[in-house]
Amino acid sequence: MAGEAEGSKAAELPAELRYMQYEHALEKQYLPAIRALISKDLSEPYSIYVYRYFLYQWGDLCFMALHPEKPLLIGIIICKLETHQSHSPPTLRGYIAMLATSSSYRNRGIATTLVRKAIDAMIERGADEVVLETEENNIPAMKLYERLGFIRSKKLHRYYLNGSSAYRLVLHLKRTVEMTGEGVV
Ligand SMILES: CC(C)(COP(=O)(O)OP(=O)(O)OC[C@H]1O[C@@H](n2cnc3c(N)ncnc32)[C@H](O)[C@@H]1OP(=O)(O)O)[C@@H](O)C(=O)NCCC(=O)NCCS
Repeated sequence: MAGEAEGSKAAELPAELRYMQYEHALEKQYLPAIRALISKDLSEPYSIYVYRYFLYQWGDLCFMALHPEKPLLIGIIICKLETHQSHSPPTLRGYIAMLATSSSYRNRGIATTLVRKAIDAMIERGADEVVLETEENNIPAMKLYERLGFIRSKKLHRYYLNGSSAYRLVLHLKRTVEMTGEGVV
């Protein structure tokens, strides 16, 4: 089983991290550590069925950052990709459901790399846009996403169970490519 996150003191990283796409065969080895890493910092409690809902169907959009030498999960991103019918014409919408970096390994670009990998995988599958929600006072997450080109599309009042509000952020993939002729990340 992959080890859980270490304490919050900044930890040494002796070599390059390993980034790995999730696959079902890895569930036994990594799911307990994934749950531990995410439940440590996110305000919403998720049951194992929520994790399996995402990982069974969209494991190829989920990426893990692993310690190069120890069996230690350092970062995780969990996503999905679905047709969004309320737009005309319908859009293929990627959704970032969960993102976390172990507290001792933050501010080294790990979450940025995970988000980029997930966006690239969504682009490969034809996504038109990527959306997510984040707590309005989660400054590290807001800065990270806005630096990657996400914009605030809506404020969601009292969105979370703890009463705090959220922003919905969106990254327009096709529109940006059409307007500039270039990729976004
Ligand atoms: C939000 C969170 C995922 C960010 O993880 P992270 O791995 O520290 O993120 P990054 O390192 O990619 O980016 C954070 C900062 O590090 C900086 N950074 C990026 N690469 C860097 C590098 N190689 N060296 C040093 N700093 C770097 C970035 O510029 C960024 O700073 P800025 O946003 O102030 O400009 C993390 O704080 C976390 O897990 N929080 C709890 C869970 C959570 O809130 N998840 C998001 C829910 S939507």
